[in-house]
Amino acid sequence: MRRKRVAILISGRGSNMSALIAAARAPHYPAEIVGVFSNRAAAQGLEIAAAEGIATRSLAQSAYESREAFDMAINEVLESWGAEIVCLAGFMRILSPAFIARWQGRMINVHPSLLPLYRGLDTHARALADKVAEHGCSVHFVTTGLDEGPVILQAKVPVLPDDTPETLAARVLVEEHRLYPEALRLLAAGEVSL
Ligand code: GAR
Repeated sequence: MRRKRVAILISGRGSNMSALIAAARAPHYPAEIVGVFSNRAAAQGLEIAAAEGIATRSLAQSAYESREAFDMAINEVLESWGAEIVCLAGFMRILSPAFIARWQGRMINVHPSLLPLYRGLDTHARALADKVAEHGCSVHFVTTGLDEGPVILQAKVPVLPDDTPETLAARVLVEEHRLYPEALRLLAAGEVSL
């Protein structure tokens, strides 16, 4: 079996990226991580990926005249790595429709809520404000609507009486780290498609 070439896009800490890298080290995993891109040069995840021997690149939006131009530059980096699948892992930017169309069906994202609930930011605080009993995370295909693409996998966690956004986020993050490698496995193995 030929392993699918995967690029990861991050903006910060990169803990989901690390979970994907760890999963891809397993001998029969159907994907390999060929590069990590960040829109922030200071993203912690870049150092972690480089220490793993993975190619890294960062480019700043400020050097480009438009979102479309920036996304084309990102696309060139991904093509230079021969990427076949793109994983967004805490990539905190809206992508242009042309970029999304280019990767349609081959780009997935992890989001810290049970989609379609709580698209966008501050998902944990919003869930607590609504006093929901359950919260969680989703891995979904990226389509043009923000956090709107079809869900591949979800995991639930209970919301506890003393939860703060931070304690709830930590409980959800454990599930993200389990869920994302499993969703990438399904996509890379051709067991799920858009
Ligand atoms: C994760 O919780 C991820 O679900 C979230 O950002 C965090 C990144 O952490 N993503 C979004 O909110 C996307 N809308 P990480 O850099 O440690 O993976």
